[in-house]
Amino acid sequence: MNDIVKKINELETRLKKYAYEYYTLDNPSISDYEYDQQYQELKQLLATYPEYLQNDSITRTIGYEILDKFNKVNHVYPMYSLDNAFNIDDLLNFDHRIKKEFSNYAYVLEPKIDGLAISLTYEDGYLVQGVTRGDGQIGEDVTNNIKTIQTIPIVLNKKINLTIRGEVYLKRSNFNLLNEKQHALGLPLFANARNAAAGTLRQLDSSVVAQRKLDAYFYTVANYQELELQSHYESLQFLKELGFCVNEQIVQLDTIDNVLDEIQKIENKRSSNDYDIDGAVLKVNDFKTQELLGFTAKFPKFAIAYKFAAEEVETQLEDIIYTVGRTGQITPNAVLTPVVVAGSTVSRATLHNYDYIQQKDIRVGDFVVIRKAGDIIPEVVRALSNKRKPDSQKVMMIKQCPICYHPLQQINNSVDYYCLNPNCPAKQIEAIIHFASRKAMNIVGLGERIVEQFYNDGLFKSIADIYRLQDKEAMIVEKEGFGQKSFTNLITSINASKEASLDRVLFGLGIRHLGEKGAKILTKHYSTMYDIIQAQYDDLVLIDEIGPKIAQSLVDYFKIAENIELINTLSTLGLKMENKQTANQSNSEFSNKVVVITGTLENYKRDELINILESKGAKL
Ligand code: IVH
Repeated sequence: MNDIVKKINELETRLKKYAYEYYTLDNPSISDYEYDQQYQELKQLLATYPEYLQNDSITRTIGYEILDKFNKVNHVYPMYSLDNAFNIDDLLNFDHRIKKEFSNYAYVLEPKIDGLAISLTYEDGYLVQGVTRGDGQIGEDVTNNIKTIQTIPIVLNKKINLTIRGEVYLKRSNFNLLNEKQHALGLPLFANARNAAAGTLRQLDSSVVAQRKLDAYFYTVANYQELELQSHYESLQFLKELGFCVNEQIVQLDTIDNVLDEIQKIENKRSSNDYDIDGAVLKVNDFKTQELLGFTAKFPKFAIAYKFAAEEVETQLEDIIYTVGRTGQITPNAVLTPVVVAGSTVSRATLHNYDYIQQKDIRVGDFVVIRKAGDIIPEVVRALSNKRKPDSQKVMMIKQCPICYHPLQQINNSVDYYCLNPNCPAKQIEAIIHFASRKAMNIVGLGERIVEQFYNDGLFKSIADIYRLQDKEAMIVEKEGFGQKSFTNLITSINASKEASLDRVLFGLGIRHLGEKGAKILTKHYSTMYDIIQAQYDDLVLIDEIGPKIAQSLVDYFKIAENIELINTLSTLGLKMENKQTANQSNSEFSNKVVVITGTLENYKRDELINILESKGAKL
C-alpha cells in the first residue's frame, strides 16, 4: 500500500472513531478543534488524490449512526451540516465564489452555538415532533424531552404548519449547577455544556430532562416556501414573533469587510456569554439566491461556519503543587488566579510533567495562557516571558514525594517521576478511588470525597477494606451527612460489585498502562486471574494489541508480593477471579443468551443489572 493510501485510511478510521464518540456516545476524546484539523488534512488529501475517495468516506457522511433507544424518524427536509472556514482566506474565498455569480447579495452572521441540532415540526400550530439530526436523513424522536424545554412554545399563536431547526444547549450557569449536583451525589461530572446537553436530550426519562433546564436557539425555517418568506433574516424575525428564542447577536451585513469586523466582535464577546459558542455562521440572506447556489452532498453552498480556536485566557501562576496518582506518578499542577475559561472557573491546570515546565520555561509568578485541552482539561499553554519579573527563578523538580517523603525516581528513562513507596497514602487513596470508579467496579457512593474521608478516618488502608465496610456500620452512620440510607445503598452497591466480571477487577487494580480495553483483551485470552499472573512477558507481547509497555508493566506488577496478596484477599472476600462459566452461569436461564436492556428501569440501576445478567452468563 502506498503511503498516501495508508495515511488516508488511517485518518478515515481515526475520524470515524472520533465521530462515533462525539455523535453517538456524547463522549468525545479530542477537542472539536483537533477533530477539524485532522478532518481538513483528510479533505485536502482527498482533493489531491480523488481516486482514493471511498463511498463510505467520513467526508461524505453527516453526523453518525444513531442509537436504538428512541424511535427513528425520517427528516422530510434533510438536515445538512456546514462547511468550515478556519481563517480569513477561507471566508474571502467563500465570498469570492458568490461574487462570481451574483452582483447583489447580503449576508446574515450568527454565533455558532455549541449544542446539538434539533428539528421541530408544528401542525396547525401544535408541536407534534422534535427530532435530533442523527445522520442528517434519519434522526431520533425526542418530542417528550423537547416539550420539557420551557422556552419552546408547544402551541403557536398562528395555526400554521412549521418545520424549524435550531440548537439545543445548556446555559453555562445551568451546566455549573448540574455538575455541582453531580459532584454532591458522587456521580461522574459532565465534561462540558455541550456533552451535558446532548446526554440530557437523549435521556429516556423526561423528568430528568426537565430538571436540567435545557434551552434552545432557532436559526432555520425549513418550509419557508410554504410560508412565503423571502429571506433568512425575515424568517428569523418571523420565528421571534412566534415566540422562539433567536440569538440576539445575529446581524444582517452587506459586505465581507463588515462580516470580518463583526466576527471579531462575536469572538470578543465569547467568554462573557452564558452559553458556549465555537464559531460564527455566515449565510446568504436571500432565499432565491440560496436556492440558486444549492447544496453539495453534505453542505449548503450558501453558508459557511468560521470556527474559533480553543478559547485561551491569561492569568497568573501563583504556585506549583505536586499530586501523586494511583501509580505513584507525580504531576505538577498550576495554582492559578481564578479565571473563567470556556464557561467554568479554573483555578488549577495541569503542567503535565517537569520536562514540559522546562521546555516552556514556565515560572512561578509568571503570567500564563491557559486553555482547556480537548475542551475539557485545563492546561497551561505558555508563559508570557515579556511580563516576567526580573528576579523570577526557574522551577526545580522536587526530590521527594510530597505526601510520604519517599525519594522520587524516574523509570526507564521516562519523563515522569514516581513515588515507588507501596504504602504511600496518596497512592492508596487514588487506587481505591480508581477501583471503585464507574468503569472498574462501579461502586456508587464511593466517590473521591468519601474515599478520602474514610481513609483519613482509618476505615480504609487498602482496596480490600472496601469489602470490610459492612462491619463498620456503627462508625459510618455516625458521620455527618452519612445516614443509614446512604450506608445501606453503599453496601448494596459494594455487594453488587462482587459480581463484576474479571476484566473489571483486572482494570480496577490500576496496573500502569493497562486500560479497560487491554483488560478485556487479556481476559479473552486467559480465563482466570491466576493464568494472567503466571503469563510470561514473551507470551503477553504475542497477544494482539498488548504491546511491550503493557506486558512489562503486568510482569512488574505481579512480581510484587503485596499485589498477589491483595488479589488473594479480594478473592477470599468474594470477588470474581475467573472468567469461565460458573455453575451459576451455566444453569441459568440467561446462559449464553443475548440480552438487550431498553426503556426505564424501576428496580435496578442499568450498570447493576448489567453486572447481574453477566454473572448469570448473559451476553449484553
Ligand atoms: S445552520 C444548512 N446556524 O452547527 C445549515 N447551524 O457544524 C444548517 N449550529 O448542524 C445549520 N449554530 O448543529 C446553523 N447559527 C447556526 C448554528 C448552527 C450552531 C450547528 C448545527 C449544525 C452545525 C454544523
